[in-house]
Amino acid sequence: MKNQKSYTKITTHSLQEMKHSNEKISMLTAYDYSFAKILDMANIDVLLVGDSASNVMSGHETTLPITLDEMIYHAKSVVRAVKRCLIVVDLPFGSYQGNSKKALDSAIRIMKESGAHAVKLEGGCEIEESIKRIIDSGVPVMGHLGLTPQSIYKFGTYSVRAKQKEEAEKLKSDAIKLEKAGCFAIVAEKIPAKLAAEITKSVNIPIIGIGAGSKVDGQVLVMHDMLGLNNEFNPRFLRRYADLTKIVNTAVSEYIHDVKNKKFPNKSEEYN
Ligand code: KIV
Repeated sequence: MKNQKSYTKITTHSLQEMKHSNEKISMLTAYDYSFAKILDMANIDVLLVGDSASNVMSGHETTLPITLDEMIYHAKSVVRAVKRCLIVVDLPFGSYQGNSKKALDSAIRIMKESGAHAVKLEGGCEIEESIKRIIDSGVPVMGHLGLTPQSIYKFGTYSVRAKQKEEAEKLKSDAIKLEKAGCFAIVAEKIPAKLAAEITKSVNIPIIGIGAGSKVDGQVLVMHDMLGLNNEFNPRFLRRYADLTKIVNTAVSEYIHDVKNKKFPNKSEEYN
């Protein structure tokens, strides 16, 4: 990591700077105080309070059920933990689609009630008006293209998007529209690496990939997946950096053993 600028506080402008100085942007999801504190202390650039909380925190099959109130609850917990990184919060399904006034109200609630720094919305030209309206109010917006999980019932599958020419062309044109609308960055999820590289070159804002190859400006993963807390999910793009399921299981098994065998607590762990 030679010649990289050291940031004491990451802003949307820092991300633009990183793109132009060829420094890759690191981003992970976070939903609670304790983990957000660890990730921020490790110097992550961006924490996304993702609507994937619906899956990994609440056990739903999709991201659709999570509510705006629940997103704000998670965002508040993350905001309390963070000193350095940029915090982006997903607008959940049903809080912005088809109604730019509703989108603005939802974004303002997130910013006012949680203290986060930006919001993320899924979609391209269909939500351009909402994006513009939110940005006009002073709230920074991150876009999200490709496999947008809130549209899973339209797609019918979680497989790679934009392999066909028509969808790839729309994706390219959407990226340019989102940049023109004023987005400060775009997440590109599960699209061919070649297409992601092309889009990254075609816009001046950072493209942050998840399953979009290496020729983008940064990477994002769901924290529970990369730490091995969610071992049922095994897509090709996922690299596991730890096996916390195993570590927690070993620790809890030892604890149970000690309790059952009257080895915990010992004399030094009790009060006189
Ligand atoms: O909600 C989420 O975790 C996301 C990431 C997959 C980018 O949107």
